[in-house]
Amino acid sequence: MAGGTLRMMLQDRRAIVTGAATGIGRATSLRLARVGAHVVVNYRGSDAEADDVVAQIRDAGGQALAVQADISREGDVAELFAASADAFGGPADLLVNNAGIESRHPLLELELDDWQQVLDVNLTGPFLCSRAFARALVAADAPGAIVNVSSVHEEIPWPGFAHYCASKGGMKLFTGTIARELAPHRIRVTSVAPGAIRTPINQELIDDPDKRADVERQIPWGRMGEPEEIAAAIAWLASDEASYVTGTTLFVDGGMTQYPGVT
Ligand code: BGC
Repeated sequence: MAGGTLRMMLQDRRAIVTGAATGIGRATSLRLARVGAHVVVNYRGSDAEADDVVAQIRDAGGQALAVQADISREGDVAELFAASADAFGGPADLLVNNAGIESRHPLLELELDDWQQVLDVNLTGPFLCSRAFARALVAADAPGAIVNVSSVHEEIPWPGFAHYCASKGGMKLFTGTIARELAPHRIRVTSVAPGAIRTPINQELIDDPDKRADVERQIPWGRMGEPEEIAAAIAWLASDEASYVTGTTLFVDGGMTQYPGVT
């Protein structure tokens, strides 16, 4: 395929990226816009960071819109999808379920609230967004793609993070199951599983050279990943270049899942 076509591989696609103000969501929004997509930059917290992503996209000649919504609430999700369809003149045909949170609590100290918050954002959110996305596309009889941002912890158990691992393990089978359901409607569903990436969720690691060296020892590639390296995988999975890929997870982790602890 010609380079020019590849460069604009998401031309005029209508994308919604959740949790798009920072980290992987931010890098993904910028990347999708660079290859031609119109992007709804969803966020939950303060406006400033999301507005900055939108400004960057617009400055580069792209189309973007910031929409505040808590994706774990059904009403917010309905408003998010309505705002997107209004702004871009039709239902979104690309959904990146990126929003996610984590907190460290060993099981013996894990409160129901902590468990619930993580499951709400990391798993209920993708469910609500995927359902809204698929309903609109099926009604319009149009094809599309969902890319879920999972984690190496859909495979690797992680002490202190049972709630997070449960959410990502759940996401793995959610991806496979809805991929089967939505294939007849020409909607592909995939996951990207990042390893340790330099984003705000990992600020503690980034700031502590000893902890960071510990983690980097577990990564065959020897370093943390950059948000742009995840964004590149998401853009590919979202594009027609990945037209025969559905129901599966692409690990983008510098080899972290290859059990480097065993020597
Ligand atoms: C987590 C990071 C962690 C990485 C590797 C990710 O899913 O969000 O905090 O560093 O997995 O363990």
